[in-house]
Amino acid sequence: MADELLRYRSEFPILERTTYLISNSLGAMPRAVYDAMKGYADLWASRGVRAWEERWWMLAAEVGDEIGVLMNAPKGSVSTHQNVTTCQAVVASCFDFSGKRNKIVYTDMNFPSVMYFWEAQRALGARVHMVKTDDGIRVPTERLLDAIDETTLLVPVSHVIFRSAYINDAEAIIEKAHKVGAHVVLDIFQSLGTVPVDVRALNADFACGGVLKWLCGGPGVGYLYVRPDLGKKLEPKFTGWFAHRNPFGFEAGPIRYSDPPFRFMNGTSHIPALEAARPGLKIIAGVGIPRIREKSKRQTARLIQLADQHGWRVNTPRDPERRGGTVSIDMPDAQEVCRELLKREILVDWRPKAGVRMSPHFYNTDEELETAIGAVEEILKERAMAVR
Ligand SMILES: Cc1ncc(COP(=O)(O)O)c(C=O)c1O
Repeated sequence: MADELLRYRSEFPILERTTYLISNSLGAMPRAVYDAMKGYADLWASRGVRAWEERWWMLAAEVGDEIGVLMNAPKGSVSTHQNVTTCQAVVASCFDFSGKRNKIVYTDMNFPSVMYFWEAQRALGARVHMVKTDDGIRVPTERLLDAIDETTLLVPVSHVIFRSAYINDAEAIIEKAHKVGAHVVLDIFQSLGTVPVDVRALNADFACGGVLKWLCGGPGVGYLYVRPDLGKKLEPKFTGWFAHRNPFGFEAGPIRYSDPPFRFMNGTSHIPALEAARPGLKIIAGVGIPRIREKSKRQTARLIQLADQHGWRVNTPRDPERRGGTVSIDMPDAQEVCRELLKREILVDWRPKAGVRMSPHFYNTDEELETAIGAVEEILKERAMAVR
């Protein structure tokens, strides 16, 4: 059957020159970003400071809504930031660790930046509990749920694990957290754009991520969803004039908070990055995440099958329902193999305890999977010959 999604390939120049299997790290750039960047420069050049009023001020909220649609977030509930680490800081600043409820529960499968941030909050009184993985692939759900107790304040966890593509049981984690009065900060960086996310169905408290991977939006735009009832009452201490009810009043003294999404922002927005993000978001919305997911399940299954045929270790769940968009394959000398693949224009990456990560997206052909695996086979053969 013809793969309908391949008609989007022409939107991404890099696909003409490379085997691009690295959307878990940086999605391919849409051709339309050239025009978006030119539009940005033209507006700045021609309208000068009036660009703020005419377009830029509202951009942070508009792009937030464009991201929000993809996760079924209500309008106005998604603020934009530079990155996920900043989003953690905004959330943390809404709480304090001086009371009995000061425990942070996270897992060693989180993205390191998210760990470093929460570990650093010990200095402010947070008690931090790390749940460890047994196999380097899955998060032990029961152990995680057991760690969430009446003293737990926040549970910052990845929805899809960056190393193994394991899909965490977000429903169970959120349900347990709510039962004991804790809040979950769900990092959907590795899910949104390739795995369906519905923040309303999940009853998520907070969800954050960035647009540069599966959303093909480039670096510089992170996003933070705050559930509307929380959004009305939380008061981030990491704040600034963009969050003020009357920013152009330039009032002295404490802030008077505006409504979300600006309530969760702080200083001047990252306009060029917001402009660059829009073409990718438009394409993803047009393709539709259910279709992306269907194809991703098929292509990741094929990669696993090919890896198995060669006897390479697969550090990714085999159950498609628990597997995100990446397949981590640990073949012999994986780091070296990865370097060689890059030289051959096959773009993938290598991570410790994962292996070579291959991440097909809606724009990849089935042949590209065979090309990548065939190249690994060839490289390993050449290395074996060289050793002899
Ligand atoms: C799950 C996850 N969270 C966060 C990040 C990055 O965090 P930040 O946006 O702060 O650089 C990544 C990867 O870059 C990731 O895979």
